[in-house]
Amino acid sequence: MAKKKILLNAFNMNCVGHINHGLWTHPRDTSSRYKTLEYWTELAQLLERGLFDGLFIADIVGVYDVYQQSVDVPLKESIQLPVNDPLLLVSAMAAVTRHLGFGLTANLTYEPPYLFARRLSTLDHLSRGRVGWNIVTGYLDSAAKAVGLEQQPEHDRRYDQADEYLEVLYKLLEGSWENGAVVNDREQRIYAQPDKVHKVEHLGEFYKVEGYHLCEPSPQRTPVLFQAGSSERGLGFAGNHAECVFISGQNKAATRAQVDKVRAAAVAAGRDGQAIKVFMGITVIVARSEAQAHAKHAEYLRYASAEAGVAHFSSSTGIDFAAYELDEPIQYVKSNAIQSATKNLQNNDWTRRKLLDQHALGGRYVTLVGSPSQVADELESWIAETGLDGFNLTRTVTPESYVDFIDLVIPELQKRGSYKTAYEPGSLREKLFSDGNAHLPADHPGASYRQPADRPATSIPTGALEHA
Ligand SMILES: Cc1cc2nc3c(=O)[nH]c(=O)nc-3n(C[C@H](O)[C@H](O)[C@H](O)COP(=O)(O)O)c2cc1C
Repeated sequence: MAKKKILLNAFNMNCVGHINHGLWTHPRDTSSRYKTLEYWTELAQLLERGLFDGLFIADIVGVYDVYQQSVDVPLKESIQLPVNDPLLLVSAMAAVTRHLGFGLTANLTYEPPYLFARRLSTLDHLSRGRVGWNIVTGYLDSAAKAVGLEQQPEHDRRYDQADEYLEVLYKLLEGSWENGAVVNDREQRIYAQPDKVHKVEHLGEFYKVEGYHLCEPSPQRTPVLFQAGSSERGLGFAGNHAECVFISGQNKAATRAQVDKVRAAAVAAGRDGQAIKVFMGITVIVARSEAQAHAKHAEYLRYASAEAGVAHFSSSTGIDFAAYELDEPIQYVKSNAIQSATKNLQNNDWTRRKLLDQHALGGRYVTLVGSPSQVADELESWIAETGLDGFNLTRTVTPESYVDFIDLVIPELQKRGSYKTAYEPGSLREKLFSDGNAHLPADHPGASYRQPADRPATSIPTGALEHA
């Protein structure tokens, strides 16, 4: 049997310090060039050279002001601040690549679905079907205050709102325009046939929408749906909607359990458990030999900022770790931020000192350090032992860490048959799921919003979306 191919996204953000904080001070790091188009177009081309499935761009609305109840450390250390808009990067990167996908994080809490649907469709058109959306609802009160609210909605209510948001999007993206609506017939002077374009009339608890989707159907219609929350309520949401789930595992046993829960959530929602691809965030420091890799790791550690990592984690959990003495036990409180981030607090005896140790490289993603074959061994073993489908590869010193991975690890994985040697044709969805269907699968709830004429003929031939 052919070996399972590891899926791979580069994990990044339109800012200086993303996950492994402090490394922007490294002399070879170029992340302060994030404001230039060239930084992104060069990165996109580099990733396509490495046959990455996608560039996954995180985003945050709001600032990290939980640590010391201040924004001083985030500003000094550039902890995801300043941060530019991720969606606006895509056109330029799509223009210089043919296959790379784009996983775009966008917070639905602060943007009406009608307008967001148009932005997604526009990017899906311009990229020829290479767009994914990482659905987030936010976890910062600072964001809510910035847009005129007292505080963010309660944790589970955010997911209720997200369910309805998705319903509106499906109505717009899947149901407003029938497949054959656009005829582009110059002689008859008919661009679109009025009887095949339908007004959406939605009246729900959170949204009222009466209108036609502004865009004609894009290659994928609904972009590939990513999701990253893993609380009980988050899993329920993922089971219904997500095609890809992003988790931050800490060890293989817990990750195995998490992957199983994601698949069980899909089954509970009436979908195939394998319909969801699960990615884990990972950091890799690789060099030609083990000794060189450890030397590089030691060098990076000199520039990393553990304090910045902990300041970031304060906002993820909603706990001001600066308020604790170094060895004082940290109290568990039910969080209105990221519940999956505080879950471990119930079991572990967390202290600020331990958190600083965990954030030695500025972040606390699983970190592999070694030669190409050692890294490949570990990546393969994570996949085999946990049921994961792939990884979101964080950056350390950028673009150096991506270059190292592409030059050293990818060829090793290819040699072992666990990484593709060429892109598959078609849209991002076709590439990820290899089933020749650019659209949501028939058992996805979004498919039920299609017009009767568009069911069940949902597939379009593999390769139909290729560049001419
Ligand atoms: C690995 C991971 C990555 C995330 N990335 C983002 C992000 O880029 N932007 C954001 O606003 N929220 C992000 N989140 C937060 C989630 O989208 C979600 O709002 C949060 O996890 C709360 O859900 P939960 O309590 O169900 O985990 C991320 C969460 C996880 C676990």
